[in-house]
Amino acid sequence: MSLRVAARRIPNVARPAVQARASTFRAPAFRRFSTETPPPPKKSNTALYAGVGAAVLGGVALWIFSSDSDAAKSAGTVFKSGAQSAKAAANFVPTKEDYIKVYNRIAEILDEASDKGYDDGSYGPVLVRLAWHSSGTYDKESGTGGSNYATMRFEPEALHGANAGLQVARGLMEVVKKEFPWISYGDLWTLAGVAALQEMGGPHIPWRAGRIDGFATQATPDGRLPDATQGADHLRNIFYRMGFNDQEIVALSGAHALGRCHRDRSGFDGPWTFSPITVTNDYFKLLFDESWVWKKWDGPKQLEDKKTKSLMMLPTDYVLVQDKSFKKYAKQYAQDQDLWFKDFSKAVATLFELGVPSTQWVASEPWIIPTTDEQKEAQEKK
Ligand code: HEM
Repeated sequence: MSLRVAARRIPNVARPAVQARASTFRAPAFRRFSTETPPPPKKSNTALYAGVGAAVLGGVALWIFSSDSDAAKSAGTVFKSGAQSAKAAANFVPTKEDYIKVYNRIAEILDEASDKGYDDGSYGPVLVRLAWHSSGTYDKESGTGGSNYATMRFEPEALHGANAGLQVARGLMEVVKKEFPWISYGDLWTLAGVAALQEMGGPHIPWRAGRIDGFATQATPDGRLPDATQGADHLRNIFYRMGFNDQEIVALSGAHALGRCHRDRSGFDGPWTFSPITVTNDYFKLLFDESWVWKKWDGPKQLEDKKTKSLMMLPTDYVLVQDKSFKKYAKQYAQDQDLWFKDFSKAVATLFELGVPSTQWVASEPWIIPTTDEQKEAQEKK
């Protein structure tokens, strides 16, 4: 496997994305987290869950094969993929090293965007969005939603307005799933989020395996993810429901340092920062340092920077400097990237674990997966 060097600080606005890709490199971001080897994982539960899953699936098979309904057909697909995963998992108990192989494969795929001329030269941002949208459906009251069952595979959740465009990310991960059929979709998608953030120069995100594939009946209702046109009350309603507080809302929002809005997905348009495939605290800096004015156009209400008119902020982004409590944290993160990295890592790790019963984890403590650069360095030292 070829190890890659993450592209850093590539302003896509001033230059064409792909050409810009090869230009400037930034020294790897300072990492605040230990890379020492964590304790070995406890015995994997994957085979156990696969066994239980297979038994349940066996029970519903008769109904599926004797029914013509759409639900039965979709359940039939689930049955097939569930049975395949069960078969693969029953014969194989993955170790941390196996998950690192998946991580490395995802890291390779991130870069393929460059050759394909996709967006700003990395699939990282859209994979982060997939991991977040598959986790951010969690409701702490009912215990439903979250990353456990990867229910975005099913309609209507796949078609919810908030998930527009994520078929790109799911399609990319389907390639990985074929190569590593033993991994659950929930583990795969969240690991992709971790790989994307780390490979784009972000902090280490503690992660562990143990999510299981669920059924269409476990899909969440529409409206659980935030609506970018709304204000502070809405943000609080949505994120408090997941169990987050104001500081964590602000820390998580800093992910908008990455990627862009697409007209044909959300209706909004443009990137938040000049370096949309590198994790930095520029999102917070720009919120304070630029003058933001409402964009005059026929699209949904969004802000643009007065100076270059090439950057954007959503109404929910701008709320972070309007609301007193949010503003306090946003200011701190604008002034101190290390602080943001620390808080962001913690909040994202929590986000990606939402909805997963602790009995399912294969390790008592989350793992710190080394970046491909760190793996390469370690290899060279040997
Ligand atoms: C605070 C509430 C949030 C709102 C209202 C919101 C809304 C949006 C919208 C409208 C887009 C554009 C989608 C498109 O057109 O392609 C987007 C993109 C994105 N969001 Fe959020 N988001 C929020 C929070 C988050 C969080 C918590 C994360 C991750 C931790 C995140 C990560 C991303 C990323 C990485 C993209 C870029 C995707 C790409 O380039 O394809 N967002 N978000």
